[in-house]
Amino acid sequence: MKVTIPYTPRKQQAFIHKELDKHRFSVLCCHRRFGKTVMLINHLIKCCMMNKNHQPRFAYIAPTYSQAKKIAWDYLKFYTKGLPNTKYNETELRCDFFNGSRITLLSSENPDSIRGIYLDGVVCDEASQISRELIDEVIRPAIADRKGWMSLCSTPKGMNNIFYDMYLKAQQEKDWFLYKAKASETNLVDKEELDAAFKVMGAATYNQEFECSFIGNVRGSIYGELISKLEDEKRIARVPYDPSYSVNTAWDIGFNDSTAILFYQNVGHAINIIDCYENNNKAFPHYAQILKEKDYVYNQHIGPHDLEQTDFTTGRTRREVAYQLGLKFKIAPKLSIEDGIHAVKMLLPRCYIDVDNCTKFINALRHYHRKYKEKDRLYSAKPNHDWSSHFNDALRTLATGLENEKFNNIRIRQTAYDKGFTL
Ligand SMILES: Nc1ncnc2c1ncn2[C@@H]1O[C@H](COP(=O)(O)OP(=O)(O)O)[C@@H](O)[C@H]1O
Ligand SMILES: [Mg+2]
Repeated sequence: MKVTIPYTPRKQQAFIHKELDKHRFSVLCCHRRFGKTVMLINHLIKCCMMNKNHQPRFAYIAPTYSQAKKIAWDYLKFYTKGLPNTKYNETELRCDFFNGSRITLLSSENPDSIRGIYLDGVVCDEASQISRELIDEVIRPAIADRKGWMSLCSTPKGMNNIFYDMYLKAQQEKDWFLYKAKASETNLVDKEELDAAFKVMGAATYNQEFECSFIGNVRGSIYGELISKLEDEKRIARVPYDPSYSVNTAWDIGFNDSTAILFYQNVGHAINIIDCYENNNKAFPHYAQILKEKDYVYNQHIGPHDLEQTDFTTGRTRREVAYQLGLKFKIAPKLSIEDGIHAVKMLLPRCYIDVDNCTKFINALRHYHRKYKEKDRLYSAKPNHDWSSHFNDALRTLATGLENEKFNNIRIRQTAYDKGFTL
């Protein structure tokens, strides 16, 4: 039987439909009005028509029942109106087709109603507003039986949600499909409408909604733009350890607070950050042991200036204690936080960061921000001190330590020049 559906996919939608057929898991980060909901509903309809399983079951999940009902349900009815003998259940938002297949619209408001069902395929629309528990505890088990597929589609909403986690995961997993569509690249929304949206929303929200920016709404973000750029240039990717180069480390050391370590390799002009480690309330032997266990061949360790402080319990400097454990530190110069941040901004464009080993570090980079002081209507001068501070301090150690090397080299050159040598 030949059935027609009144849907002609746009170029980008057609591409996605093809890729969804090839991949079990996909993450689609697309701007507002891209045509996400229309595309997802039509993909489910197509799957219903093509799937050969006994009683195929598919689901569309929206954050709330009213979102599912207001938008997706109308699309579903519209696009299936040409199919014979379709039964629509208005209260359950369920649609049964002539061939025994079914699409149900569900919402993450009542996960218990979804528990225990099986699914051949599922799409999560506006996935950044869908709870982690729903996806991990309900949807994944539901697709396990029939090896069903799952697609998460959304505009970003910051970094503390399942969509961002899955976005990072999709960057690492070779067999996942990751797609990103910014309005400035698709030309699907006309310029007048975009300009109007920009005026109403302001830059941060606009970048989130139309330019797929995960940092768009982290107010006062310090490295936000640079990180987006690194991402666009695919520098946040798989950056494996290259055994033909030695590994260096850069530290932020806290004794009551967290200690954070970055592991990196200098490859030509590039800095490959291949690994990271963070822990708290541990003494030096612990970190020395971690370094040993990593099994890298080390060259240099850069530490912050407070390594020179004398420890009251041992009467020695922390640097000396580290030295006895086999960690010979070079101390980064003491610079103001502002100068340190500047050094990092100069350094980041040279960096490649491993997305597998450095998830926590990457999150910290994105999160690092200055607090907005509502009363004074300005951002505080200092970055907010929170979980993200330690990795960012370690990165400042790296940047200022390397800067120092450059200054030293200039100094060596200068001295050599003064003595009449050329280097
Ligand atoms: N292939 C298509 N052909 C024609 N119109 C489309 C198509 N895809 C989407 N649209 C229209 O574009 C608009 C936005 O679609 P929608 O799926 O709601 O976007 P999103 O969910 O990405 O915000 C709607 O008016 C929809 O009808
Ligand atoms: Mg939508």
